[in-house]
Amino acid sequence: MGVLDEKVAIVTGSARGIGRATAQLLSEQGARVVINDLDGDAAQQTASEIRGETVVHSGDLTKGDAPDQLVQTAVDAWGRLDIIVNNAGYTLDAPIHKMSDDWFQRMLDIHVAVPFKVLRAAAPHLREPAKHEKERGEEVFRKVVNVSSISGTMGNAAQANYSAGKSAVVGLTKTLAKEWGHFKVNVNAVAFGYIETRLTASKEESNTMEIGGEQVQLGIPDQLRGMAAMLIPSAGPEPPRRPPAGSSSCARPGATTCTGRCSTSPAVSSRG
Ligand SMILES: NC(=O)c1ccc[n+]([C@@H]2O[C@H](COP(=O)([O-])OP(=O)(O)OC[C@H]3O[C@@H](n4cnc5c(N)ncnc54)[C@H](O)[C@@H]3O)[C@@H](O)[C@H]2O)c1
Repeated sequence: MGVLDEKVAIVTGSARGIGRATAQLLSEQGARVVINDLDGDAAQQTASEIRGETVVHSGDLTKGDAPDQLVQTAVDAWGRLDIIVNNAGYTLDAPIHKMSDDWFQRMLDIHVAVPFKVLRAAAPHLREPAKHEKERGEEVFRKVVNVSSISGTMGNAAQANYSAGKSAVVGLTKTLAKEWGHFKVNVNAVAFGYIETRLTASKEESNTMEIGGEQVQLGIPDQLRGMAAMLIPSAGPEPPRRPPAGSSSCARPGATTCTGRCSTSPAVSSRG
């Protein structure tokens, strides 16, 4: 018996990193999980390694109606939706005087437009059941966790685009907490500090991802990585292979009064 038995969760960008660790923990607690990622092979691999029930939605969520298809995948598989973790993301770092319109827009697309579109597509599946539950006098809580960053809450040099997107998703979170409070949907954001994934790994030639047929450089120069523990206020010890606090804890059934908040999570490792 898990605390999330019968619940259905979507975790975007869950082939690896924080999303994978979150999907794994939700699954361990009984949830059935949609594993989404633009990297379809990695998503399949992750789904096969997670012991609970999973389905894969493979696709770039910034393209066409992918957010609608993602939500439909959950509903087709299990007929309901209880938890959404908007986690998918990447970085395109440059100082503002070298940043193109395209790089700025792409960070707004993935970090705030995608969560908006996923949540809009999910709205009927969160609101309608809640209306029937209210008529029956049942109290059922559903959960949204939007992944922000301390770059969004505090700013970070060379991340005007990422920081703007991660800050905007906090506004989206607070607004939806107000719109959906009476439907008993808890909507929260978690602003991670420094989590050891490929986004914060060394900025080596091999540390790239492919999106839209283009190779994107990921990572942080080693000199800055060495300073991270001093610069990031919430740095702390690391529980390996567990999701950082926030991405799954706000989704727990007991967290019913936690809504409209943006919590900052300590620095940990979620590699695995
Ligand atoms: N690692 C950190 O220190 C840190 C700090 C703060 C916030 N975050 C945020 O946490 C989230 C997860 O990052 P991570 O560190 O685990 O990175 P990661 O690269 O390990 O995982 C991100 C996943 O998202 C997927 N993805 C990216 N764009 C996508 C798209 N358009 N459609 C579908 N999938 C897509 C990637 O393929 C990847 O598998 C991101 O939103 C990131 O901005 C990370």
